[in-house]
Amino acid sequence: MKQLYGLIGHPIGHSLSPLMQNNAFAVEGLRHYYHSFDVDPEDLQKAVEGLRVLGVSGFNVTVPHKVNVMAFLDEVDEEAEMIGAVNTVLNKNGRLIGTNTDGQGYLLALKETAGKDLSHKKVLLIGAGGASRGVVTALDRDGVARLDIANRTLAKAEDLSHNNIQYAGTQPLTLKAAEEKLADYDIVINTTSVGMSPRVESTPISLQHIKSGMIVSDLIYNPLETKWLKEAKNAGATILNGVDMFVNQGALAFEYWTGVTPDRQQMRYNVNKQLTTWTDPS
Ligand code: ATR
Repeated sequence: MKQLYGLIGHPIGHSLSPLMQNNAFAVEGLRHYYHSFDVDPEDLQKAVEGLRVLGVSGFNVTVPHKVNVMAFLDEVDEEAEMIGAVNTVLNKNGRLIGTNTDGQGYLLALKETAGKDLSHKKVLLIGAGGASRGVVTALDRDGVARLDIANRTLAKAEDLSHNNIQYAGTQPLTLKAAEEKLADYDIVINTTSVGMSPRVESTPISLQHIKSGMIVSDLIYNPLETKWLKEAKNAGATILNGVDMFVNQGALAFEYWTGVTPDRQQMRYNVNKQLTTWTDPS
């Protein structure tokens, strides 16, 4: 049966999710359709009720609704509860069930680069906003050895470190302190928007004390390679951009809705192709 899926956010104009999901439906031979809806924050409850009664089969949730949408759902799973945000909703016979695929999406991408066993890895995560929460929860539950949080506003790093990390050794840090002890880590992850287009000249922290062989990862995918990732690569680090996290969170949502595991290589190819066209209009 033909089904409708969607995305709610504000603004929504440049989202790559419709392109990625509609291509994936076609590749898997499903006659479904994915549409993005620009929903003003004050209309969120009405929009969610509308999606429910119209029988939309599932939807993604993006900025700025990931936290507030939780109040309007019937159920939220454990991972989303821990993260404190929902990015994927399934409409199961009129019951709206929320989950969060951001953290697992990132974890899968990281494991492709760092290997499956992260239990000896010392991780430095930069940023303490919405994007960092999913990554922090997924890494902590996977069992990394250390998970330090550095943030411009130290109080937010303290909050995340004390309240969201259950298993890993952890310490909140200022950005300056993180720069100075950079060589202590195996993996460094930027979850802030620093370096994102159009402000492509800025970098989240100095990489002066980087060791070669480190993994340096940026959740940003526009540009595909931030100035910070370029600096890391030139210093001998292995780099990971945000494309695979984006693709994996979408693939996990697709599977949650349809029960079908989509072709991730094809999804990645489509997203990369679109991003390359954007950043290089020639
Ligand atoms: P998101 O939901 O995309 O994570 P957010 O919740 O506004 O967005 O969080 C943005 C993160 O980027 C925060 O950690 C923020 O630091 P503060 O907590 O100090 O605001 C960080 N950030 C944004 N701009 C920054 C800048 N110019 N320098 C350093 N950190 C910055």
